[in-house]
Amino acid sequence: MRKILIMLLAVIFTLSLLFMGVGCKEEAVPVAEEPVAEEPVAEEPAEVPALTGEVEIFTWWTAGGEAEGLLAMIDIFNEKYPDVEFINATVAGGAGFEAKPVLITRMTGGDPPDSFQVHAGHELIDTWGVGDYLEPVNFIFEEEGWYDVYPEDMISILSMGDDILSVPVNIHRSNVLWYNKAVFEDNGIEAPATFDEFFAAADALKAAGITPLALGDTGIWAAVHLFENVLLGVVGPDDYIGLMDGSVRWDSDGVKEAIQTFVDLLDYVNADHSALGWDEAAQYVIDGTAAMTIMGDWSHGYFMSKGLTPDVEYGYVPSPGTAGNFMALSDTFCLPKGAPNRDAAIAWLKICGSKEGQDAFNPIKGSIPSRTDPDLTLYDVYLKSAIDDFSTNTITPSIAHGAAVSETWSVAIGDVMTMLVANKDVDAAAAAFQAAADENL
Ligand code: GAL
Repeated sequence: MRKILIMLLAVIFTLSLLFMGVGCKEEAVPVAEEPVAEEPVAEEPAEVPALTGEVEIFTWWTAGGEAEGLLAMIDIFNEKYPDVEFINATVAGGAGFEAKPVLITRMTGGDPPDSFQVHAGHELIDTWGVGDYLEPVNFIFEEEGWYDVYPEDMISILSMGDDILSVPVNIHRSNVLWYNKAVFEDNGIEAPATFDEFFAAADALKAAGITPLALGDTGIWAAVHLFENVLLGVVGPDDYIGLMDGSVRWDSDGVKEAIQTFVDLLDYVNADHSALGWDEAAQYVIDGTAAMTIMGDWSHGYFMSKGLTPDVEYGYVPSPGTAGNFMALSDTFCLPKGAPNRDAAIAWLKICGSKEGQDAFNPIKGSIPSRTDPDLTLYDVYLKSAIDDFSTNTITPSIAHGAAVSETWSVAIGDVMTMLVANKDVDAAAAAFQAAADENL
């Protein structure tokens, strides 16, 4: 289950070559020398009917940046298909913590939207692929020539066996520390690269009456997000990946050190963290009531949506201890079986996977394209740095955003975090993490 079958890609590539070969044959049809009078005149090919009706696309993109990025793709859809009514079906709540339960109710109740947002990797495969809820989209990859523009590793995390189950729209980085440049400058602080530097900076900021680290974990996923950053920073990429495949234990000394570091961090976060969303935490950084936040690069989209410019008002570095690592996740859209307007859903998916769609969406969303052929002139200084890092860094999958573990396991990890944030009991959390791994591996 864990390894997506990369070998099958060879078969898929071979198939795509075969299809290309078939496409070339038309020109070779011989022309009859003498027209035969009684032969019926060939009819004009029937026109493809224009798309009509409604198309309902389900996401959780309502916050600054993510909402505007989505709108950029909707604009393209509306221009191409003016006779289709686009239903922008959103359920607010970062990382889909409110949207996913709604989606599960709809899907299991036989009421699918035409397409929905889903993370590549375990969330896609373990929930929707194994449950047989999705129609493979290999035919779209073939029709659009996407086997040439998507890296094999990308296709592998979208696939179950031979079947490609969704269309990626981006790649996000989750291990970024964002900071208010003016606050750092005023307090003589450099962006921290290690936890020692982080805690030294945090003490200075606290003494100056500024919240060092903004957190908004009204959805516990944001605490999981912070913890996955700390975990990677403390145990490193090999052990981090080992935790996901069972070769490293969650009650090991390394993980306990990470849990303790996370508990120590909690002394430096805003008191109202459990009442806020990730975007409200990011707003604290904009306002200067907090100096830093550790969050995915949808924060970049948020800051831009508020009129800020990277490297001017805000800076960014890998979260402490994670330089050289790129914690990744990918947003994708799928084709549910029984989509009410399947043709329009396919039209939407073709925009999501196209160069035009991705180059409209990602520069606003704060993510990098999942295709290999973006127009780099459209990507700003932060996104260019992310594109570079993605090609040179060690890639690790995000826990909080469906890449590394199944939804069930991720929810179990969230439950441990809820307990840990409340009681700060490191040994109890380590034991509970291990129990969750035992149940889910
Ligand atoms: C992630 C998603 C991002 C962004 C973020 C906050 O799970 O992949 O695109 O939407 O949640 O909502």
